[in-house]
Amino acid sequence: MTDFTFATAGRISFGVGRRSELAAAVAGLGSRPFVCTGSDPSRHEDLIDRLPEAASFAVRGEPTMDVVRAGAQAAREHGADVVVGLGGGAVLDAAKIIAALATNGGDPMDYAEVIGKGQPLTVPCLPFVAVPTTSGTGSEVTANGVVTSTEHRVKVSLRSPSMLARVAIVDPELTVGCPPSVTAHAGLDALVQCIEPFVSAFANPLVDGFCREGIRRAATGLRRAFDDGTDLAARTDVALCSLLSGLALANGKLGAAHGIAGPLGGYIGAPHGAITASVMVAVCEFNIAHGSDETRSRYAEVGELLTGNRHPEALLDWWNETTAELGVEGLAALGLTEDGIPTVAEAAAKASSTKGNPVPVSADDFAGILRRSL
Ligand SMILES: NC(=O)c1ccc[n+]([C@@H]2O[C@H](COP(=O)([O-])OP(=O)(O)OC[C@H]3O[C@@H](n4cnc5c(N)ncnc54)[C@H](O)[C@@H]3O)[C@@H](O)[C@H]2O)c1
Repeated sequence: MTDFTFATAGRISFGVGRRSELAAAVAGLGSRPFVCTGSDPSRHEDLIDRLPEAASFAVRGEPTMDVVRAGAQAAREHGADVVVGLGGGAVLDAAKIIAALATNGGDPMDYAEVIGKGQPLTVPCLPFVAVPTTSGTGSEVTANGVVTSTEHRVKVSLRSPSMLARVAIVDPELTVGCPPSVTAHAGLDALVQCIEPFVSAFANPLVDGFCREGIRRAATGLRRAFDDGTDLAARTDVALCSLLSGLALANGKLGAAHGIAGPLGGYIGAPHGAITASVMVAVCEFNIAHGSDETRSRYAEVGELLTGNRHPEALLDWWNETTAELGVEGLAALGLTEDGIPTVAEAAAKASSTKGNPVPVSADDFAGILRRSL
């Protein structure tokens, strides 16, 4: 396909030390910031202290419907006129959804895809500033926020162009404190987010460029960032891969690995990146076996970008070696049992990400992919 539309954050500021721009960016958008952080807000005290009239809201773990309801209520009570997300993808997504609910009112289920009413947001969200502290999701430039429904045991998105950040500040130095497991899971997810839009039936030339560069950056930086978290050049490569992956997924489509991640993440509660990394080989094998020549050629190019060897097998070998080195476990170790496979497979077949896969995937196909990934 050569047709595309492109939308992204109002401004992207990338580079080591760029977090120093946060106070000015926030001041340009409002005077009563509502700052969402991870479970330990003291990690970023120096940045929050420079935001006058700020209220903090700690997001512990991945956001649930109740967390975003409470956040929206707290933001309204504070009289917030700008929302900052300062943390991993979970925090950015919570902040994005809170910024949407604070102005639109109602309940997150009114706007949630798949299990909710899927209503459009009709009122512009509060301006949102995204400052990622992990390299993985690219959420700083995507127009959706992911939230868990504990009732339905599934993760779903709220999505709207108005959820895009007004400013994204990506400072690789903020990721230096990430422990190796977070570096591994988030970094591999960023790579999956570059590979799926690249092999997707909806690939387009703009997204292709983001994906190629993101895959190259992961090949150079991911193992090094895992081995030595203080290696700023490696952290920069992975942060760039993550940013590019967000640009790719927001302007292209994902595929079956992410089709599994929503339902399975809600079902077993494992880290998002651990899931996408562990199903990737089975998904690629399925797509290579059932896809067109163009699909196989795309996988061969991914193999070449990662290893220099233009062959789909090169990607599979690289993935197996890298995930072993980075300590990625199979789905059984993450908590999936045979009993859960039919439920997750049914839901994955209906997931919005699955529509981007280069090959149609039935619930039976998903069950096979899940069994192969145990
Ligand atoms: N909106 C999107 O486009 C999009 C895309 C992909 C994934 N997601 C969502 O993002 C979430 C995953 O995000 P993630 O991979 O960044 O993980 P995360 O946000 O869950 O963070 C993982 C862990 O790392 C910790 N952490 C974060 N930054 C740290 C730092 N600098 N130092 C030390 N510890 C740190 C967190 O406290 C947490 O314990 C999932 O909820 C997933 O569904 C959203």
